[in-house]
This record gives sequence, structure tokens and C-alpha cells, in this order.
Amino acid sequence: MAAERMTQTQRVPLLAGNWKMNLDHLQAIAFVQKLAWTLKDAQHDVASAEVAVFPPFTDLRSVQTLVNADDLPIAYGGQDISAHDSGAYTGEISGAFLAALDTKYVIVGHSERREYHGETDEAIAAKVAAAHRHGIVPIICVGETADDLEKHGPSAVPVAQLRVALEGAAKGSEIVVAYEPVWAIGSGQAATSEQAQQVCAALRVLIAEVLGDEVAQATRILYGGSVKAANIAGFMRETDVDGALVGGASLQLEEFASIVRFQKHVGT
Ligand code: PGA
Repeated sequence: MAAERMTQTQRVPLLAGNWKMNLDHLQAIAFVQKLAWTLKDAQHDVASAEVAVFPPFTDLRSVQTLVNADDLPIAYGGQDISAHDSGAYTGEISGAFLAALDTKYVIVGHSERREYHGETDEAIAAKVAAAHRHGIVPIICVGETADDLEKHGPSAVPVAQLRVALEGAAKGSEIVVAYEPVWAIGSGQAATSEQAQQVCAALRVLIAEVLGDEVAQATRILYGGSVKAANIAGFMRETDVDGALVGGASLQLEEFASIVRFQKHVGT
């Protein structure tokens, strides 16, 4: 019998803040503490939307200590992971070290890593495998440039990128996918919610093809690229958009808290 289809509401939305190279460990402590207070004051129901922050590596231990001490309902993750577990790889961070800090997620294949560090789809697949070896959920980023969009249309490049990245995915291990059109990142020019839906739906079809229908229905697919409080509700109304990877707006406390609480302004 075919597996029962999971409805969108059964996938707990994930609102993830990618801080990139911003906020040192002291600033991170202050931010996470204030974010927790703000969400608590606003009576945010953590069961209805998960919140996660992705600070620089040097902040992770501090964030872990705070989250554990105060039992805060905030997940955290690394912005990258080495494909290697140990050895002579100066500057790299092992998944074993991230796992030792109870890191739940790790961003893999962000377009800035692809562009400035020459990360290929194959390298990203190796990082997905490394994350799974250490029980960390990879947030696999894919997305087309403006040029790709013009030449190949909206979903061909992200689907091709994800196809290779999934070669690293361990059977039965969770993944999150983030569709981030490169032209929308940091540009202030977000995709429309219809564009995001179209690509996220195509990515879900690919996941079904590679990992099976059940995994595809359970997998959260995020949209990223100039997400802010004023546009999050529109994205979240789409069937195949299960959250957001937020860059610039995740550094502004009130703005990010408002994004996390999108359900309160979903009618706007
Ligand atoms: P942005 O960045 O929200 O500032 O566009 C998104 C990202 O890079 O993940």
C-alpha cells in the first residue's frame, strides 16, 4: 500500500538564520538570549515552527553553553563542514567536532562557498556524507544564477545540483534542502512565492525519484534569498515551501523574531 502522504502541516517549518561572517561569540550569546526572550514574551509555540541559528564556528561552543544552561528552544548549526573526519586539513572543521557540540544542522553548499571556495557538486556530496556520518542534518543549498535562469529556466540547475548532492546522503538519514536563487541572495530582490513554489516542487519530485516518496514528503524544503518579515508569509503559504534560510534579516533581532512568528501574520 502506498505510504500515506504527509501534508505540509505535518512538516514542522524551519526558520534558519545564516549569520555568515557576522557576530563574535559575545554578540552571539547576547543575540540568542534576546531572541529566546522575545519569542517567549510573544508566546511563540516552538512545536509550530522550529528556529535555528548558524553562527561562525568560533561562536558554537558559547551558543551551546547558553542553550543548554537555559534550556532554550533554539537549534544551532555550523555554516560548513569538512568532507574529512580528521587529519592534515588546516582550517577545516570535522563533523566529529560539530557533533561534540550537539550541533543539529550544518549548511552545505551555500552559493558563497560554491563561488568563493570553488565547491563543486561532488565536494558538496562528500560533505553531505560527512554530516550524516556524524548524525548531523545537512541543509543542502542549491540555486541558479541569473545567467542560469536565462539559459536553462528556473529549476534545471537547482535540480541538477541536488541530484549530485544526494549521492552523499545516507539511506534513512534526514536532509533539509534550501532553494536559494543566487540572484536573490542579499540583493533585496526575493523570488516571488510562485517562483519559489515551482522550484521547491521540482526539488521534491527529484527527492522522491532518488530517495523515495516517503522521504520526499517528510523532507523540509526551505526558500532563501532576501527573506524578511514582510514577505515570509507569502512563501510559507506555498505547499512545497517548509521554511526559510535567512541571511541579512536574521541579524536583526525583531525582524528575525517576526519571521519565526510568520504564522501570526500569515494573512498579510
Ligand atoms: P539573504 O541571504 O537573506 O541576506 O538574501 C540568504 C542566504 O545567503 O542564506
